[in-house]
Amino acid sequence: MTSFNTLIDRNNTSSSKWDARSAIFGTEDVLPMWVADMDFRAPDAVIQALHKKVEHGIFGYTYMTDSYKQAVADWMQRRFGWTIQPDSIVHSPGVVPALHQIVQAFTEPGDQVIIQPPVYPPFYRVVANQGRELVLNPLRRDGDSYSIDFDHLESLMNDKVKLLILCSPHNPVGRVWSREELEQLETIAEKHNILIVSDEIHADIVFQPNRHIPYASLSESASSRSIICTAPSKTFNLAGLNTSNVIIPNPNLRSKLATTMRKNEMTGMGILGTAAAEAAYNHGEEWLDQCLAYIRSNLEYVHRHTSGYKDSNGSPLIKSSLPEATYLLWLDFGALGMDSKELNAFIVEKARLGLNDGSAFGKEGASFMRMNLACPRSTAEEAMARLDLAMQQLGK
Ligand SMILES: Cc1ncc(COP(=O)(O)O)c(C=O)c1O
Repeated sequence: MTSFNTLIDRNNTSSSKWDARSAIFGTEDVLPMWVADMDFRAPDAVIQALHKKVEHGIFGYTYMTDSYKQAVADWMQRRFGWTIQPDSIVHSPGVVPALHQIVQAFTEPGDQVIIQPPVYPPFYRVVANQGRELVLNPLRRDGDSYSIDFDHLESLMNDKVKLLILCSPHNPVGRVWSREELEQLETIAEKHNILIVSDEIHADIVFQPNRHIPYASLSESASSRSIICTAPSKTFNLAGLNTSNVIIPNPNLRSKLATTMRKNEMTGMGILGTAAAEAAYNHGEEWLDQCLAYIRSNLEYVHRHTSGYKDSNGSPLIKSSLPEATYLLWLDFGALGMDSKELNAFIVEKARLGLNDGSAFGKEGASFMRMNLACPRSTAEEAMARLDLAMQQLGK
């Protein structure tokens, strides 16, 4: 049984989050709450499956077995009521590599690809690195909540738009798109014949009563024009094992992507990642439900605490809304009146926190920081103590 309260020393483990602090923040002296992995041990079943493989001692080439595919299909059925054919799964070492392959396979140089900022920074690179034209449909912000700007999306449509990368649930704003929103998107996609690539890597980190709806499960039309990127990496903290599953119900789209991936020699599967993922999907559900409850309580605690900083008129100095999904809190420091450089210096030097700079997610994020709360409660408490001191120094 995992105790999520246990503080595990991750220093000197080649951890990007912990050991790259100097490189990223210019100092070791920050509490790292940035890149999206968890400071928790993976489920016991995963660790046992890995032990078994390691004990066997042979790490040869590996393929996607029927039992692996069935484990993924069963997970989708149990968690989302989504029936998939096991053969609709295409393996990729990661969601970001898969997005690159998808953009390469389904668009030509000069075609337009839409993303919706503020959004996960690699989405920008996925389009730019493939020489496609990036088109932005910024999310609408009403108070502290975000929605898709469908009027603006419709206004962007022209013959060059071929693909939209949806972040569902959305990193960093923590939205779980409702059925109505997804259906509205699908109406536009169908009308203009746009391929929807739905990055659903955060789909398992969703808090009740919100319900994640896999895009392809919406309707026949959505199923035929979408590619769904999933992974056990966020869900079970397996990001270093480089395993993800792209689910493509439409056989024509699947074979087109498979052709591109073969051309790029993107076909191998890691033996350890495969073993871990299968065990996680088959036996990790109880662990995940406990983990979600733990993370939710961390998010509530930090949201409550940060909402307590007020100016002399009683207006909040740090704003956020509780995420419907993800273990990431999107904190708006705009009321402090700092520019992005000043805000970063304040967070790193005064608060001694290693957070994600909101401006990396798009210009809409310039006054924001993203905080990762998949950590023991004591880490969240230490972060709030550091922030208290920094706010006091500001006279806030
Ligand atoms: C929306 C989104 N997509 C993809 C990834 C990373 O995927 P991978 O490590 O499988 O490339 C992340 C990681 O934070 C993410 O937030």
